[in-house]
Amino acid sequence: MQTRVLTGITTTGTPHLGNYVGAIRPAVEASKRDDVDAFYFMADYHALIKSDDADRIERSRLEIAATWLAAGLDPQRVTFYRQSDVPEIPELTWFLTCVAAKGMLNRAHAYKAAVDRNTETGEDADAGINAGLYMYPVLMAADILAFDANKVPVGRDQIQHIEMARDLGQRFNHIHGREFFVLPEALIEEQVATLPGMDGRKMSKSYDNTIPLFAGGKKQLRETIMRIVTDSSLPGEPKDPDSSALFTIFRAFASEVETAAFRKALLDGIGWGDAKQVLYERIESDVAPMRERYEALIADPIGIETILQQGALKARAIATPKMAALRDALGLRSASPVVHVSKASPPQVATKSSKMPRFASFRDVDGSFRFRLFSAEGEELLLSVPFADPKAGGVLQKRIKAAGTDGVVLQVDALRIVLELDGEPVASSTHYHDELTCEAALSQLRQALDQLAAQA
Ligand code: TRP
Repeated sequence: MQTRVLTGITTTGTPHLGNYVGAIRPAVEASKRDDVDAFYFMADYHALIKSDDADRIERSRLEIAATWLAAGLDPQRVTFYRQSDVPEIPELTWFLTCVAAKGMLNRAHAYKAAVDRNTETGEDADAGINAGLYMYPVLMAADILAFDANKVPVGRDQIQHIEMARDLGQRFNHIHGREFFVLPEALIEEQVATLPGMDGRKMSKSYDNTIPLFAGGKKQLRETIMRIVTDSSLPGEPKDPDSSALFTIFRAFASEVETAAFRKALLDGIGWGDAKQVLYERIESDVAPMRERYEALIADPIGIETILQQGALKARAIATPKMAALRDALGLRSASPVVHVSKASPPQVATKSSKMPRFASFRDVDGSFRFRLFSAEGEELLLSVPFADPKAGGVLQKRIKAAGTDGVVLQVDALRIVLELDGEPVASSTHYHDELTCEAALSQLRQALDQLAAQA
């Protein structure tokens, strides 16, 4: 049994160390476990509540996607997508809005804090507050409930939102008399739930105390670390590790042995400047290889787009049939029995690419060559095995083009399609989430192969 783990990251601003330690790193680690079915997405609709700066939103979406991928997220394994590419989410938001108690939303921390600020300054209670902020918990509940997530890793500040998602799921289930939704649970990483920022308070954009993960490179990383606030004790004076933000940040990156050594160094009176250098070097040794991948990814926005479109397809293959069941339960039924959209066919993604299936070759991180086969609609169908020689890949593409469905063997193994030539596996699909999706992909692949053969 797999546990479905889902989390979102709001796409405002640039990822910082707190995001990495508190959310990205544990999420990437969890996604590698066999008992975890991970759904990670960019909450770009949530971002619109806080920002109307289109360029910033665009930039942030790209940076965050590249960050997660650079941190080791495998999009073949995980369902990685943007909220705004899944129209089922806003649709579900409305269904949940209609069962949400307004009083519950009045009590949401973020909204209440905004009202309190207004009241304190003698303003009208709702001055300057958009309804997006008010509805934030409902949109978030839709994010979670649309995919029947079991566990939602979040920071402590988000626990109330998960409780509201449970409440909304429960209400809907109760009103409509069936277990439509799995009720999610918050997952809090006790160890590293929050990282302190430069001033010792929780590292957060709203406190302007963040240490950037990649932005500005290692120079910026070092400079920011050097500006972490410390007490005024001098070199030689013992320093209390447990009241030092430096130590807390160090511990989030280091092994137990390294942490014990750093604790001792502080107690032994290491100067703050030297302690900061130690901290910088420890972080940089983790960040440097990721930064390199990050820069390569950022330089290829179309590559990222392709990955995210694939992710949206995987996500929608789950959300679309679920929404159909909900619409039916709500009475949003079609009177015509004739117009039936097959639930088996995953939604199509329109792309600007040509109307024919196509191959795309690329060089993998390990230096080998591979290619992908995309459907006419731009969906990834197959990823080839690696080749040392790019020509070998080219030859194989020609053979596949000429072969058609009848000239190859297509095996389905554990919800994954493998294409064989001469008894050798040469390319395979992603692992699909369920049989319907896998079957739909298989028929798409057959169609693509035949289209190619017809043209060859
Ligand atoms: N509100 C979350 C945050 O600020 C981001 C988010 C949006 C989210 N939708 C979600 C997290 C769904 C978990 C599940 O951190």
